[in-house]
Amino acid sequence: MSERRTRYAGPIARAGVHPHSLIAQGFAEDAALADLLDRYPAELFDINLYDYDDEGQVSLRTGARGRLNGAQLLEAIQQGRLWVNLRDVETGWPELWAAAMAEFKTVEAGYPGLKAVKNAGQLILSSPKARVPYHFDAAGVVLFHLRGRKRIFVYPGDEGHLPERDMEQVVARQTTEELPYTLAFEDDAQVVDLEPGQALTWPLYAPHRVENLDRFCVSLSMDFQTWPSRFRNGALYTNAVLRSRGGSPRQTDRMGQGELALRWAASLALKRTGALKSRIAAYERQFEPEVGATDGAGALKT
Ligand SMILES: [Fe+2]
Repeated sequence: MSERRTRYAGPIARAGVHPHSLIAQGFAEDAALADLLDRYPAELFDINLYDYDDEGQVSLRTGARGRLNGAQLLEAIQQGRLWVNLRDVETGWPELWAAAMAEFKTVEAGYPGLKAVKNAGQLILSSPKARVPYHFDAAGVVLFHLRGRKRIFVYPGDEGHLPERDMEQVVARQTTEELPYTLAFEDDAQVVDLEPGQALTWPLYAPHRVENLDRFCVSLSMDFQTWPSRFRNGALYTNAVLRSRGGSPRQTDRMGQGELALRWAASLALKRTGALKSRIAAYERQFEPEVGATDGAGALKT
């Protein structure tokens, strides 16, 4: 199918699956993961626990790294309902990163015109029943799936599913809210069940959510910027500033590359002068991982 699933220009028109060979290299085995968790810097962990109501609306609790050793933390994730994100894989696990970048080059070559200028990665270890809420990333993404099974729902990148006003607020760090979501969006999802050895990519900015399918999951989420995504992110930031000053800026999907580039340049100056302060306060940690506790989430030990 060639139907475009996004209003933004770009070589990736819809979600697509690609093979990769990272599993054969042993990166997702228990012993390797336990070692990694032992040595990974505590400040690079995000530990989340998501709950959903009947309308699919999410609430989030965040956890501290705590004191479990790597093998215990791995067990807590495998038994619980946790979503654990290790940021900065490019420095935190250079061997995996080098192998993943080689795989990325192959995926990139499959989309004529796609040219990443900056890549970054997060290794995600998540519990068998963990689910990630509806959101978008202000970047391209290739999700390399290494272990377990997960179902990815990718939604159209149109104004109805991805309102630019909300994108501006996220890009300018004015809100911790995700995009507005309703169950009615489910009719519009492209649904992909991802198996180990497969990687998924989707159009720049396309909203998505994830459900693990009853197995402990390991994925490397690689995000990347292209010049067009940098320009658009900058334009969204500039628009957020204009809006905060009472303006009603034109939407970026009606701007050509020249106008986007000018707004990106403006965003660099605005950021230098601190035009918008981040309104995202540091999360207060509510639990720490514990083997045998409900959802793998034990009380904080001070
Ligand atoms: Fe994402």
